[in-house]
Amino acid sequence: MDRIRIRGGNPIRGKIAIGGAKNAALPLMVASLLTEDIVKLSNVPDLMDIKTLMDLLMSHGVIVEMAWDKNSAACRTLALNSKNITNLTAEYDLVRKMRASVLVLGPLVARFGEAKVSLPGGCAIGTRPVNLHLAALKELGAEIEIEDGYILARAPNGLKGGVVRFPTVTVGGTEDLLMAATLAKGETVLENAACEPEVVDLAHLLVAMGAKIEGAGSSRIVIHGQPRLHGANHRVVADRIEAGTYAIAAAITGGSVELSGAGVELMGAVVESLVHSGVEVTSARDSLKVAANGAVQSVDISTAPFPGFPTDMQAQMMALMATAQGASVITETIFENRFMHVPELARMGADITIKGNTAIVRGVKTLKGAPVMATDLRASVSLVLAGLAAQGETVVNRVYHLDRGYQSLDQKLRACGADIERIPG
Ligand code: EPZ
Repeated sequence: MDRIRIRGGNPIRGKIAIGGAKNAALPLMVASLLTEDIVKLSNVPDLMDIKTLMDLLMSHGVIVEMAWDKNSAACRTLALNSKNITNLTAEYDLVRKMRASVLVLGPLVARFGEAKVSLPGGCAIGTRPVNLHLAALKELGAEIEIEDGYILARAPNGLKGGVVRFPTVTVGGTEDLLMAATLAKGETVLENAACEPEVVDLAHLLVAMGAKIEGAGSSRIVIHGQPRLHGANHRVVADRIEAGTYAIAAAITGGSVELSGAGVELMGAVVESLVHSGVEVTSARDSLKVAANGAVQSVDISTAPFPGFPTDMQAQMMALMATAQGASVITETIFENRFMHVPELARMGADITIKGNTAIVRGVKTLKGAPVMATDLRASVSLVLAGLAAQGETVVNRVYHLDRGYQSLDQKLRACGADIERIPG
């Protein structure tokens, strides 16, 4: 298994190209199931999760053509052709690798009247059930049964528009239902919908495919179902979490980076917290400059659905707070088990106490390099960030977590002065 070795202490300085968002690209790829025509996506990041979803879509009969995207650094274009869907079952072996696979449920049942999708099973960051997707699809007339670990969804006469009020904000649930409702008969209203930029990006593609959608980006989305959708071209929105992660790489090492292709409008809460902590952030057209400006001060954060502070940036912010001046209170409200990086950061000398869903982080002067590992993507990258700032050598194990969501992480950081290398193993 590959590892990443870092010798800390070098400031991260330079320009980093931000790719398309993994969490936008995944539902966009799934949306191709809604039409017989070709959906072309550009600015698709070259990541393990994208390959896993490609395998799943191909198992349904989707033909995928991939090429390099000439207009975006190291990203891909995908042409997805779902004309001849031959299989309506998403097998456990593919779904268990990536929970976002469950998103095929809504589009398949909407277009074909039935689908069989494995329940995704356990997850390192929380129980992450899919009950809200199922309850919402029932509101659109789907009959749902669970059998032998699979979700069986049927709507032989098609889905019917309805009113869905999500009891809690769910990004995946909103995306699943948004896609399903585009082909339902009549009007669907999604209340307490997720407002994340990735949901808005999905709505943009669906509208380009002929869907009628109002209110995406607000908590009330209205969809007027259409008998069919057609093909479209779409560029994946920038990865605000990748951008935020490199912003923290600069802040934690006393460096400065220009993040090209990153939009400040997607990153409000993260930028606000960085600015409160004393980091300088300036935005120009299509890029963001982040510079450490003296010592970083502690700030409190509490994760929340967009436009709040993203849970996917919580671990990285905690790494920054571990070396900040003062004490910071970090509250995780989205997932019940998303502090797995804490014991690993503590092994590097961080002073963190957990009380329920709150972590109290008392900044220390310096972290110390250590062998570490984590059980999910963002926890792993927080250890890389800590390693960049730490004295001595840090070895991050289980690099496959990073490969799921960060394209060429070691290369991008090395190009900005980090002493970092990937050790094949
Ligand atoms: C998306 O996951 C992202 N994944 C996650 O990114 C992100 O952390 C999360 O949204 C929150 O922003 C993708 O977009 C592929 P949710 P999703 O449904 O859609 C509960 C990363 O690191 N819930 O918004 O699965 C759930 O357990 C990843 O890139 C139910 O109870 O998240 C959680 O507590 C990790 N029942 C909360 O809602 C359901 O049916 C929010 O989950 C659905 C969700």
